[in-house]
Amino acid sequence: MSKTTVLVTGANRGIGVAFVRHYAGAGCRVHACCRAPEHASALRDTAMTGDVVVHPLDVTDMTSIHDLAAAIDDEPVDILINNAGIGGAGPQRFGHTDYDDWELVLRTNVIGPYRVAEALADRVAASDMKRIANISSGMASLADNRSGGSYAYRSSKAALNMVVVNLARDLAERGISVIALCPGWVITDMGGPGAELTADESVAGMSRVIAGADLAHSGRFYHHEGHLFPW
Ligand SMILES: NC(=O)c1ccc[n+]([C@@H]2O[C@H](COP(=O)([O-])OP(=O)(O)OC[C@H]3O[C@@H](n4cnc5c(N)ncnc54)[C@H](OP(=O)(O)O)[C@@H]3O)[C@@H](O)[C@H]2O)c1
Repeated sequence: MSKTTVLVTGANRGIGVAFVRHYAGAGCRVHACCRAPEHASALRDTAMTGDVVVHPLDVTDMTSIHDLAAAIDDEPVDILINNAGIGGAGPQRFGHTDYDDWELVLRTNVIGPYRVAEALADRVAASDMKRIANISSGMASLADNRSGGSYAYRSSKAALNMVVVNLARDLAERGISVIALCPGWVITDMGGPGAELTADESVAGMSRVIAGADLAHSGRFYHHEGHLFPW
């Protein structure tokens, strides 16, 4: 079996760079994608220690996604990790909503992962493992929503979960497993300093889930500790 190849979006900081650290440390080949490689100092430090190739990628830009697919060429991608995401910069309370910002959140968190999956599905299908893991959120859960608010972010991650289930159905015949993951509340720029988990702790759990997420587990929403998360 050849070396496992992993592709991570939003790889320059937070959970994304922790995924790069994890898989590069495990001896995998990693395609680390970020909007501005020239400013990705944490990623550069990680990249020096392993088989890491850095690519520019803005998941809201179709040309950028096509350029990435062209750069990957015919190399198989065992694990595609759609990690890039935004919480939204504008207000998301009822009666106080920034609609332009909401649209950007949907383009980034829903359409972005879908476009990346569409552009790279052939590469994933050509690999040994054939996994697409999408970083969702507990805030996607309809069943677990007890506080309201966060309209843009919640709706984007709930929509991403539907994309995951759809992709799982559509890509099953090509042997590709597609899952959604809740990373927990993680100390990053998005999660803030008061969060519960380090990015490395979250990624240690999520990578175990991804390793076990074969076709029989496709179309599911997993907590980083391995149990199913309620839709
Ligand atoms: N932290 C948490 O507690 C938590 C909880 C639940 C879910 N999540 C999810 O986990 C994922 C990673 O979050 P994080 O906490 O690591 O957040 P983060 O520290 O804010 O990092 C977000 C990453 O996404 C990238 N990104 C944003 N827009 C992009 C675009 N258009 N194209 C390409 N990359 C883009 C950012 O790149 P730039 O540096 O260029 O902005 C950055 O690398 C997200 O999907 C998030 O929703 C996080």
